[in-house]
Amino acid sequence: MTLLSLESISKRYGEVQALESVSLSVRPGSRTAVVGPSGSGKSTLLRIIAGFEFPDRGRVSCDGTLLAEGPAGMPAHKRGIGIVSQDGALFPHLSVAENIAFGFERRIPDRAERVAGLLDMVELDGAMATRRPHQLSGGQQQRVALARALGRQPRLMLLDEPFSALDTGLRETMRKAVARVLQNAGITAILVTHDQGEALSFADQLAVLREGKLIQAGPPQVLYRQPRDRETALFLGDAILLPADVSGGFADCALGRVAVDGDHTGRGEIMLRPDQITITANDSAPEAGARVVDVQFGGAVSTVAIALPDASLPPISIRTSGIMLPVPGDTVQLGIAGRAHVLA
Ligand SMILES: Nc1ncnc2c1ncn2[C@@H]1O[C@H](COP(=O)(O)OP(=O)(O)O)[C@@H](O)[C@H]1O
Ligand SMILES: [Mg+2]
Repeated sequence: MTLLSLESISKRYGEVQALESVSLSVRPGSRTAVVGPSGSGKSTLLRIIAGFEFPDRGRVSCDGTLLAEGPAGMPAHKRGIGIVSQDGALFPHLSVAENIAFGFERRIPDRAERVAGLLDMVELDGAMATRRPHQLSGGQQQRVALARALGRQPRLMLLDEPFSALDTGLRETMRKAVARVLQNAGITAILVTHDQGEALSFADQLAVLREGKLIQAGPPQVLYRQPRDRETALFLGDAILLPADVSGGFADCALGRVAVDGDHTGRGEIMLRPDQITITANDSAPEAGARVVDVQFGGAVSTVAIALPDASLPPISIRTSGIMLPVPGDTVQLGIAGRAHVLA
């Protein structure tokens, strides 16, 4: 089942190819996160879905209705798509209630109740209704912007870096609150972010954009464990990258013989996430082992840097529980949970 379908969307601004043949499907009720570095085309993609821009080529359809085909299509206000941007874009001279009611049809009878219901939905106190935007915190303003977008009862909600102006703690609270609100309302959502942690925890589909191209799309776990290339691997988190000889489902590398995914054969590069590696003390053969070079206590999760027996490789950084930490100079045995991923 597909709610939104993007087929080979391309968009150019002068010399800049902002999007190049991007195709993506979004299931009803799902949450998609679009990630990529600044300038990779994320906002352009959302603006094309919303109808603020039109593609040069390609088709956008929603719920079986064609929204855009090349530069022709349905105007934004007829699409039933909500959008919340980075700054929320509230009207400064209107109260919270007036901002929220802005999208309603004229003279609906239960205006006040609907505003109250929407404030409740985004977990804001009803007493806020008479305030002006400047009397609210950044997080509260974003909730009002979300309430205003929800008031139009969209079938699809687009969120363009809506939390990026908030500080870390508030950001996480807001991300969870917004996910909850959208889930309860049964609204399909697409979140744009340059924060991979935010994307991994928000989404059930992750789409990686780079230089206007869709590099990979799929469940977050799959992209984290099996990124298409080195750049995607590093964009989605810390990675241990090692040269290896791969054959028959195993790789010979600086960590020994390691099980790998895929059916690649020959010289290649393998990737492990730091959380796949476990360490145990190695007292039996201290001269042969990997050696701890640095330990950073980090509370629940600590970081240990380990020099490999092959001195031509840089030390690897792994994460481990803060209990029974080794000390620099210890030799350790490394264990691997799961398979390594072979990068093509
Ligand atoms: N209206 C515009 N006019 C000219 N260039 C634009 C316009 N909008 C975006 N671009 C360019 O298109 C590229 C993609 O921009 P954008 O979609 O905003 O990226 P992101 O949201 O990933 O940071 C950038 O190089 C940007 O400068
Ligand atoms: Mg942007």
